[in-house]
Amino acid sequence: MSKTPSRYTLTAALPYANGPVHIGHLAGVYVPADIYARFLRSNDKDVLFVCGSDEHGVPITIRAKKEGVTPQQIVDKYHGIIKKSFADFGISFDIYSRTSSQTHAETASEFFTDLHNKGEFVEKVAEQYYDPKAEQFLADRYIVGTCPSCGKDGAYGDQCESCGSTLNATELINPTSALSGETPIFKETKHWYLPLDKYEPWLKEWIVEGHKKDWKSNVYGQCKSWIDQGLQPRAVTRDLDWGVPVPLKEAAGKVLYVWFDAPIGYISASKDWSTATGKDWEPYWKSDDTKLLHFIGKDNIVFHCIIFPSMLKQHGEYILPDNVPANEFLNLEGNKISTSKNWAVWLHEYLEEFPDQQDVLRYVLTANAPETKDNDFTWKDFQARNNNELVAILGNFVNRALVLTHKYYEGVVPELGELTAQDKDVLKQLSELPSKISNSIEKYRFREALGIYMDVARLGNKYLADTEPWKLIKEEPKRVETIMHIALQIAANLAVLGEPFLPHTAKKLFNLLSLEPQTWDRGGSDQLLAAGLKLNKAELLFVKIEDKQVEEQVNKLEATKLANTEAEPQKDEIAFDDFVKMDIRVGTVISAEKMKKSKKLLKIQVDTGVDTRTILSGIAQYFEPEDIIGKQVSVLINLAPRKMMGEVSEGMILMAEDADGTLQMISPSENVKSGSLIN
Ligand code: 2FM
Ligand code: ZN
Repeated sequence: MSKTPSRYTLTAALPYANGPVHIGHLAGVYVPADIYARFLRSNDKDVLFVCGSDEHGVPITIRAKKEGVTPQQIVDKYHGIIKKSFADFGISFDIYSRTSSQTHAETASEFFTDLHNKGEFVEKVAEQYYDPKAEQFLADRYIVGTCPSCGKDGAYGDQCESCGSTLNATELINPTSALSGETPIFKETKHWYLPLDKYEPWLKEWIVEGHKKDWKSNVYGQCKSWIDQGLQPRAVTRDLDWGVPVPLKEAAGKVLYVWFDAPIGYISASKDWSTATGKDWEPYWKSDDTKLLHFIGKDNIVFHCIIFPSMLKQHGEYILPDNVPANEFLNLEGNKISTSKNWAVWLHEYLEEFPDQQDVLRYVLTANAPETKDNDFTWKDFQARNNNELVAILGNFVNRALVLTHKYYEGVVPELGELTAQDKDVLKQLSELPSKISNSIEKYRFREALGIYMDVARLGNKYLADTEPWKLIKEEPKRVETIMHIALQIAANLAVLGEPFLPHTAKKLFNLLSLEPQTWDRGGSDQLLAAGLKLNKAELLFVKIEDKQVEEQVNKLEATKLANTEAEPQKDEIAFDDFVKMDIRVGTVISAEKMKKSKKLLKIQVDTGVDTRTILSGIAQYFEPEDIIGKQVSVLINLAPRKMMGEVSEGMILMAEDADGTLQMISPSENVKSGSLIN
């Protein structure tokens, strides 16, 4: 790609149409992609921003089976919900398409045929699990069994959700078919493989050597480790009845693997855009002076950095991505967001509870974006960022500037008079901000960019606080005109520069200031508003979020947690004699300290009534040593001593463990003598 691109193609991961979208989607992919797209447009760049629903793949067929409907009904339902959520949050796709479309089936088939004709695929016959009753080969998700790592039932052929291990279907103990409950048999089947091993040398050159400096370290690191481990051929066809049919006679009943067809969906979406607008899609995918960027979450890295580029490269007509700015994950109140466990803040539900507050969520998710590590969304932080930042800094400044203008000048922008040193300094700072923000956005540092944007509002607040126009209005009216003129120019800059981050707010602000939306070439300028312009009446840009609203959201999550909790099954029966062998006492903690080099262990001295002894307990993540001194605890004192990290532990402090792993001490409701028996 040449140094200055003539155009940009931005893709945002196609979400699976098997459920609505949540805050994790927004934070990881769609808000950063949208900020980038809006930023480019604000700078007069030629941008094509595409996305659509990913409507193939096994999770969709499973959801359909569960709900007793067809896969097409599932994707129709969720495509509509997802598309609406993105529109509501101002995600400014040029097209939001879908992979069950005719254009897509044709584009994906042609792509496969092209590679097949070039002799790129390796054909292999291998044994795979087959359900004789359902007369169907079983995708990994259709095989359940006992996990070989943790021994829990209900593990899938590709993953155990209890312990998180990645599995091969053949490793499952007692595999059964999720379709019929039968034990599957092995049967031979033929598939087409993309020989990634063959592409290793150029992938090494292109990524490991070529993109070491410009790709984010999380992205580069993951790619390098894949390549270092040695790439294997990857099957791009599946035995399934939902997907794009493999365009070969001998492959009847087989479809393209969802990860083969989904990224081609970006190209199909571009073709749909072309049909809708009459513009040519090809330069956006085939011209060397186009910059192609894929916005994705970290679970999609290998597909967008290794597999899809290999496909594009072998096809030969397409450009390769210039960058793949993948984000890490967003957690919710300390736990992984999960569609199946309903542990999420769904976008359509958020809007029912916080109507017209899309930008608050966009703001919080950008300010706390998981750019370099997984981050946590909490409702408390959401409230604090709204109340202390959007309301108290941005909203407050704009409101003060407008209210004072209405009070002193009936809403008309006053003249700029003679400038003081402070005025000059403020205007200089203002003029530097757009390039600072651009710099961060160009490096995909959106949270940093947003922080600099908020500095514009901070600058405005400080300027008004320092100059105190309300104290000067009687004695020095000319001076106040200049102060208010400058304050209003700052407010106008907040509208111009805020558009990529907070598009709904920017629109309101442009309206309040009687301004048309502007490109950034005049950002930082002190001449956005002409003296004499009549402004509209002040209106609050943001409202305070009350404790009660946040409590409701937290309670809703608590209810989800309870609904998800199943008590551990009862253990095997024991004899009374087994029970009385255990000597459990009330002990008192005499002292406690963190064990060196251990994150988990506390070294605790306990008065057991019998003696004072050392017990090592894995509770350091839940208790500060100083908080437990003097506490009464339940102790199993006749447990055989155990050596841990060079220290001997003589007994065990008993704990109650919550569903999410949180620990609580088991203490008598009132203090008793140390050594009292528990039986
Ligand atoms: O992880 C996912 O949600 C996939 N549906 C992303 C697909 S991205 C692209 F390749 F289409
Ligand atoms: Zn497991």
